[in-house]
Amino acid sequence: MSTFKTIDDLDVAGKRVLVRADLNVPMADGRVTDTTRIDRIVRTVIEIADKGGKAILLAHFGRPKGAVVADMSLKSVVEPLAEALGRPVAFAADCVGPDAAEAVGNMVPGEVLVLENTRFHAGEEADDDGFARQLAANGDVFVNDAFSAAHRAHASTVGLARHLPAFAGRAMQAELDALESGLGAPKRPVVAVVGGAKVSTKIALLENLVARVDTLVIGGGMANTFLAANGIDVGKSLCEHDLAETAHKIVLAAVDAGCDILLPSDVVVAREFVANAEHGTVPINRIPPDGMILDLGAQSVRSINACIDGAATLVWNGPLGAFEIEPFDAATVAAARHAARCTRAGHLVSVAGGGDTVAALNHAGVAEGFSYVSTAGGAFLEWMEGKALPGVEVLRKTA
Ligand code: 3PG
Ligand code: MG
Repeated sequence: MSTFKTIDDLDVAGKRVLVRADLNVPMADGRVTDTTRIDRIVRTVIEIADKGGKAILLAHFGRPKGAVVADMSLKSVVEPLAEALGRPVAFAADCVGPDAAEAVGNMVPGEVLVLENTRFHAGEEADDDGFARQLAANGDVFVNDAFSAAHRAHASTVGLARHLPAFAGRAMQAELDALESGLGAPKRPVVAVVGGAKVSTKIALLENLVARVDTLVIGGGMANTFLAANGIDVGKSLCEHDLAETAHKIVLAAVDAGCDILLPSDVVVAREFVANAEHGTVPINRIPPDGMILDLGAQSVRSINACIDGAATLVWNGPLGAFEIEPFDAATVAAARHAARCTRAGHLVSVAGGGDTVAALNHAGVAEGFSYVSTAGGAFLEWMEGKALPGVEVLRKTA
């Protein structure tokens, strides 16, 4: 962490601290359905408040594209946030202008305020400098605690750092530390498990991983594309046949880099994509022409578990099968539980993140059993692709 400025480098007492949080939480009928992202920022907000700072939270919600959209108001997160903090939280109906200035002006040290959705202004996503100045007018310092929005070069993630001294919050710091131990300077051997539906959305990620890890396990729908590229008949399975050439290139790059690729040896097939569809396990060279691969077989899982046993570090993104419908969650659940056991036994550092991954690990009941589970979707993927994240870059000590 020494390369990033953190709250340790900052005296917040009496200061107006603009905290960029990710409050883009799952919501149904105006109620927050998963508070993980809220819970993660508690530490930073409490620390700032207890040190006598004024914690002013900036965040986006949804994609209102520069317009005020009533059901994308951050008002809905105020109560769950107050509950998580165990203290009152004020709200201002705009993140800039007179409403924001008045609410900030009324604060005393130790108080917490949430400003309305930054994306209600077009200047946010455009990183308009005039808008960044307006945001900066309400703060003395900028603390970014939103790793999961750090892949966006927006006014509240990057622009503010042009006008205020910028620091990583505790959640950002924990995320950067975990990611560093996952792929930055990991203990070897490193195994990456990548699943999910499509190769097309993860080409850059696979290319980066083969150059950096010792073993790459490919599961999920994307494994079908690799199997088909090897001449395996995958029947009616989800498969991007047009990406055969890409799959070959990734395999060749892996050979060059000395990275082993592990593909499934057996799979669970069904004739329809519904829960509890009639199914069976077959070796990959026996997939029926009308069969659909919905999960990995037990032998494939044993091979994956053996890879995990031999690894010191595991990086995981994406489910191994159609985990959202039973019983095709079996491989994902079994391998995730195995990884959690190895982590608990102390011989594995396990880092997971990205979209469906958190849902899959929660489903397996093992999110707590991993060393670190990122709440980031796109930002985690871009990090796995080896890209510099603009919202992280501005927090570097040299920046
Ligand atoms: C997320 O939920 O992935 C982050 O909050 C970023 O949101 P975005 O994808 O709308 O930029
Ligand atoms: Mg996203």
